[in-house]
Amino acid sequence: MKQLLPFSILLICLSTWTSAQSNVQNLLTENRTNPIGLDVAVPRFSWQLHSTKQNVRQTAYEVRVSADAASVTKGAIWQSGRVASDQSVHIAYAGQALKPRQRYFWQVRIWDNTAEKPSAWSPVAYWQTGMLAATNWKAKWIEPGFVEDTVNRPSTLLRKVFAASKKVRSATLSITAHGLYEAQINGKRVGDAYLTPGWTSYNNHLQYQIYDVTSLLIPGQNAIGVSLASGWYRGRLVWEHQKNIYGKNLALLGELAITYTDGSSETVSTDERWKSSTGPVRFAEIYDGELYDSRLEKTGWATPGYSDSDWSGVTTKPFGYTNLVANYNEPIRQHETRQPIKVLTTPKGETVLDFGQNLVGWVKFKVTGKAGDKIVLSHVEMLDKFGNPYFENLRTAKAQATYLLKGGTETLEPHFTFFGFRYVQINGLTGPINPADFTAITLYSDMPKTGEFTTSNALVNQLQSNIQWGQRGNFLDVPTDCPQRDERLGWTGDAEVFSRTAAFNFGVNSFFAKWLKDVAADQFPNGAVPFIIPDVLNKRPLKEDPAGAAGWSDASIIIPWNMYLAYGDKRIVEQQYASMKAYESHMESVARNALWSEGFQFGDWLSYVTTEGSPASEAKSAFTDNHLVAQCFYAYSTDLMRKAATLLGKTEDAAHYTELLGRIKAAFQNAYMTPSGRLISDTQTAYVLALQFDMMPESLRPQAVDRLVGNIKKYKNHLTTGFLGTPFLCHVLTRFGRTDVAYDLLLQETYPSWLYPVKMGATTIWERWDSMKPDSTFQSPSMTSFNHYAYGAVGDWMYRTITGIDTDETGPGYKHSIIKPQPGGKLTSANASLQTYYGTVRSSWKKESGHLTLTVEVPANTIATIYVPAQSAETVLESGKSLAAAGLTASGSEPGYVVLKIGSGVYTFTSAGL
Ligand code: BGC
Repeated sequence: MKQLLPFSILLICLSTWTSAQSNVQNLLTENRTNPIGLDVAVPRFSWQLHSTKQNVRQTAYEVRVSADAASVTKGAIWQSGRVASDQSVHIAYAGQALKPRQRYFWQVRIWDNTAEKPSAWSPVAYWQTGMLAATNWKAKWIEPGFVEDTVNRPSTLLRKVFAASKKVRSATLSITAHGLYEAQINGKRVGDAYLTPGWTSYNNHLQYQIYDVTSLLIPGQNAIGVSLASGWYRGRLVWEHQKNIYGKNLALLGELAITYTDGSSETVSTDERWKSSTGPVRFAEIYDGELYDSRLEKTGWATPGYSDSDWSGVTTKPFGYTNLVANYNEPIRQHETRQPIKVLTTPKGETVLDFGQNLVGWVKFKVTGKAGDKIVLSHVEMLDKFGNPYFENLRTAKAQATYLLKGGTETLEPHFTFFGFRYVQINGLTGPINPADFTAITLYSDMPKTGEFTTSNALVNQLQSNIQWGQRGNFLDVPTDCPQRDERLGWTGDAEVFSRTAAFNFGVNSFFAKWLKDVAADQFPNGAVPFIIPDVLNKRPLKEDPAGAAGWSDASIIIPWNMYLAYGDKRIVEQQYASMKAYESHMESVARNALWSEGFQFGDWLSYVTTEGSPASEAKSAFTDNHLVAQCFYAYSTDLMRKAATLLGKTEDAAHYTELLGRIKAAFQNAYMTPSGRLISDTQTAYVLALQFDMMPESLRPQAVDRLVGNIKKYKNHLTTGFLGTPFLCHVLTRFGRTDVAYDLLLQETYPSWLYPVKMGATTIWERWDSMKPDSTFQSPSMTSFNHYAYGAVGDWMYRTITGIDTDETGPGYKHSIIKPQPGGKLTSANASLQTYYGTVRSSWKKESGHLTLTVEVPANTIATIYVPAQSAETVLESGKSLAAAGLTASGSEPGYVVLKIGSGVYTFTSAGL
């Protein structure tokens, strides 16, 4: 004992000392971990507090920044000093002007409310600036010097040998292209990004990537080699077979900056001394796939010893640099891989691999054959009812990877295309297939996965999986409608309806921030927003005055606001405000007396249409008047403009939008509603939108809810909504006290419903409620995608209602969470977690023999309002203790709930008698 005493005292001291403060982790610069290549003059810093204690709040912080890792303690570039603030997310850098292509190091310490001493300094994080200004580029744009085969347009190889004359301390490559590029140094691939430079409105923004290539350089002679292909820049896009939308020729711009250990530096740039040739990729297109001829491989072409004496030169071009921006979002990377779950022989005798999941990417495979053998991989999403691959819904997209072998054993994969598929038909292979030789590799923007959601219902869990896979497959640098047919475009409406769900499943702040810059760039001079961004539909100069479409064009207003809510990111609203306002003004200019009742609308796209024999066959179709829909979205956007203007302190604008909103609602009531509250369209979408956006006087809302519920009952608990009604359907039912009906809809298994595709074996969200009909035939092939995320927008309701995780609008980004689970639909448990910038928010409940257990997690430096399902405060325990004993006081109650305001920590509530 005597001996033990000093040790235990030491332990106690140690634990008091270590647990006195939170520790600071997960440092982000502009939402990313140690990003390389940021063209942001004022980057923002975020960090997380981690603590074993409850109710932890930051009271102050101190940030220091240096251009040198070793001397970060000196904070030579910026020292914020101790700033009294509870802000730990999006702290703007305020030091001296940043230099181009410079790595900066930073760390932070914080003070919290649990102790007087500050935390330890955090681990060091860094970011590296990009070129920052067009004038900092030295490289020249180059085009290949040979005459191109303009029919097949094979990929181009460009190369250059250079010397690293001394010992290299660091080397970074800044690179972009007209077309897609893949770079190698000394035969090794540069970076792990794919389909670079990604897709943007190239004339306005062309992204370049910056790679740290220090480890690829060798002493003495080195070589850099880059292959280029058509991609989005000049490949076939849009269903009208347009080519060369941005330009006719491939081109490269690259600058390799080398710093030697003695402090001297050297730059190797694209210039007239590069060489050009063609490579093994004889054809590559986004929609049609790739033709790879191994016999044309130029072994060692990206190494210094290769002889390029028969290569052509290059031509330099004065394309300039003003549209260049460093990659703002996470690049496309490879993610999950899957082996075939079955090798099938179809009734037609074809060999087909089933990867068990509709996904986006390509197949890598090992093959042994003779020189000139031709192997063709054809990608499809579905098999028809007979078991044959279903090609028709690809429309004109060939979606094939074709290989001509050089002989022997090779491992092959495409480079400059992608496919949306679950099944792959293989032609040309002789002999038995070994499934282990084939791997499907997914490709999508490298957004961090942030959401988990599961329940006791396996079908709902499959629905959630389908929603997440839909997002993986369609967040490929731009939010696309679908990934398989000759479309794959940045449809604004689809992105708009799904954006809030997207922000639960993955971190999409930077992804949307990047895309929204193109929304603004491609916006028409009259403020209208194109239906597709990047806008490849409208050739400039415009022939006529373009108009917007409700639910599509207002992605320009709705998505910035949704990102603000999900991430507390005010800058996105500031940056988009001019674009948001321009679109709002456009709506004001086309509306007469605040009524928007003219012009083209997509309306409630793909809503239910009666099909003979369907469960709702006795009911009529569910078409909602297009302009009734438009008027509701006009109100929605105007309300968001009012909020955005208030947020940014633009009081005049806010007053104007408040007044306008009143007139929009009055005009709605006048045009579309009888005095007793009946709408001209007796549809679910009409009542849903009118209720969601408060279009009707309060006194008439209860009967509108009755009509909505009556309509749902008339369709025997089936939804009939399209793209625009669907996201709000369950939310409206919940808001007006009919969560029971929302559950009936969610759990409905027959068409039209969310679970009908699940019952039909779907692994992604379908474009139409019945893309595949109950008899296993397909909808019209002209528009039947099996990977279209829009209807997955119910995911937002699932997180926000079933597990009840939401953010308070006054504490966006989950600085103030609301956790209000609403059990129902015979679910016995549900769990969700969300990685926010502050840390994990969790809500997990379980019902067992009359008890409900709710576990919540609230990250440090945030607060939460918790609604514990309970009859009264007396029936609730926290970690086995009464609320009072646990130091908690109910701050209010709502029928069926005890409401608590709590600080950070993990809490387990049990309520009896439920
Ligand atoms: C696309 C969409 C889009 C719609 C607009 C379709 O071709 O796939 O999802 O929103 O057109 O009408």
